[in-house]
Amino acid sequence: EKAGYDHFMLKEIHDQPQAYRDTLSGRLFKGYPWVYLPELKLTPEQIKQFRNIHIVACGTAYHAGLVGKTAIERWARLPVEAEVASEYRYRSPLITPETLVIVVSQSGETADTLAALREAKRHGARVLAVTNVVGSTAAREADDVLFTWAGPEISVASTKAYSTQLLAFYAFAIHLARIRGTLPDEEIGPIVHALTKLPEQVESILQRKDEIKSYAEEIASREHLFFIGRGVDYAVVQEGSLKLKEISYIHSEAYAAGELKHGTLALIEEGTPVVALATQPDLYEKTVSNIREVMARGAGVLGIATEETAGLAGSVDRLLLIPSTHPMIAPALTVIPLQLLAYYASVARGYDVDKPRNLAKSVTVE
Ligand code: BG6
Repeated sequence: EKAGYDHFMLKEIHDQPQAYRDTLSGRLFKGYPWVYLPELKLTPEQIKQFRNIHIVACGTAYHAGLVGKTAIERWARLPVEAEVASEYRYRSPLITPETLVIVVSQSGETADTLAALREAKRHGARVLAVTNVVGSTAAREADDVLFTWAGPEISVASTKAYSTQLLAFYAFAIHLARIRGTLPDEEIGPIVHALTKLPEQVESILQRKDEIKSYAEEIASREHLFFIGRGVDYAVVQEGSLKLKEISYIHSEAYAAGELKHGTLALIEEGTPVVALATQPDLYEKTVSNIREVMARGAGVLGIATEETAGLAGSVDRLLLIPSTHPMIAPALTVIPLQLLAYYASVARGYDVDKPRNLAKSVTVE
């Protein structure tokens, strides 16, 4: 069952290259229409009528929604809100028939998310479900479904469901952008190319998992850890921080790098571990100055960069390089070391990785 791995979580982390291939298979083309999503009933006319999008989900799926929001806004130029389902449904959200509501749920059975789905439909919105389970309640009740083909996810801590949700969002954002005419072909081409390279790039990160393992063993005895990043790096560190807390019980905070000085910078002390993501060339300089702020207070910084931002090596204590990719696509790679960090920290602390305390795989009560 675990295919020789010690835990389902580790197996599922290693399933990701194949999960990426399966999720992208048949959906990407090297030219027009670039992305093909035949399961969508949504017509181009309907897509052109949308005025806004709400992305609603819980937990890890919500974090995928944060990346989805950024991609859709940037490429399809539609206003997008992303919110946790347990808040969304009780604040009388401004839903109109011109709103597309996207619910994201690995299981398709999370009660809060289903309640939001029903609330959206009651207001006449069209609902798209991004889910991993064929025949799930979300898949049955939504108007449209985009399946993530991650395969069964057993470990309570979600890994390949999150990363394939990112791919579903990228594909859908390109689809919207092409129909709305908001992204020229010269820009779509490199994005599609970056997506096709992901499976082998994930393989190459997995081959270097020992680098993360040794870092995880170092921080395993710590009580607190900070994650910082800007833009989509900030979205990913929120997921990395959740993962670490969920299975290793090390307290951590994910901070927008530029916000730290407006908030809890005082908690950074001599030796506080900080994981800093800096994969976005246009935000690189700003992120480096935020890294300097924490280093000046004695933080020990692990930087994660791509080949484009490899200059980060000079500003951090140690660097993990991920392969070169399109900046918007970077989360599909950077999440892998963060998953491994949470996994190895949990193992080092002697916990039952696949069955973390107080957490269920799917919560079917509100
Ligand atoms: C939580 C799980 O209860 O539900 C999380 O512990 C998960 O791991 C969240 O991300 C949402 O689940 P789903 O199935 O709706 O994606």
